[in-house]
Amino acid sequence: MSANHLDIRIRAMNYLEVRPLRLEVLRAGMVDQTVDFDGDDDPTTIHLGAFDQDENNVGVSTWMQRTFPLEEEHKAFQLRGMATADNVQSRGIGALLLDAGFKHAQENGIYLIWANARDTALNFYNRHGFTTVGEGFIEPVTQLPHHKVVKYLLR
Ligand SMILES: CC(C)(COP(=O)(O)OP(=O)(O)OC[C@H]1O[C@@H](n2cnc3c(N)ncnc32)[C@H](O)[C@@H]1OP(=O)(O)O)[C@@H](O)C(=O)NCCC(=O)NCCS
Repeated sequence: MSANHLDIRIRAMNYLEVRPLRLEVLRAGMVDQTVDFDGDDDPTTIHLGAFDQDENNVGVSTWMQRTFPLEEEHKAFQLRGMATADNVQSRGIGALLLDAGFKHAQENGIYLIWANARDTALNFYNRHGFTTVGEGFIEPVTQLPHHKVVKYLLR
């Protein structure tokens, strides 16, 4: 796979391997340095990472089998811990991670994917077929404004 001339490969990682990049990108300058999510080591959780030609981990994403609070009857994935290394953002790595996650979800009969999205990333999610749902809220760990976003795969 390529992302703006970078030679990027997407592959599964374990939950310990995703921590460094989560910490670097998602907790930079924050008091609360928590980067573990409840469910990180569930057997149904998959962590997809992006690696450059030198095997540097330049992107992470975590896909957890969790129902969407507003539609609990459907099989769903919650997308969490979505991050691209600062020096290679806006080069299509996030898009590659989303595509790989969507493929994994489709193979698992997932009806919808949802996330608590940072407001600063809403354009990114909207461009990839997510819709913003409900009122904005302040996420307790990061203290940043968020909205729920949802993307339907099977309707
Ligand atoms: C949000 C985030 C994960 C997106 O990852 P990314 O690798 O930068 O994503 P992409 O490069 O696929 O797309 C990002 C933007 O770059 C643009 N872009 C993509 N490929 C491009 C290219 N080849 N040339 C120029 N611009 C490009 C896209 O249009 C997109 O713009 P948008 O934000 O207006 O939609 C990343 O920016 C990030 O880690 N941000 C900080 C942490 C964060 O907010 N995470 C999400 C928490 S919910």
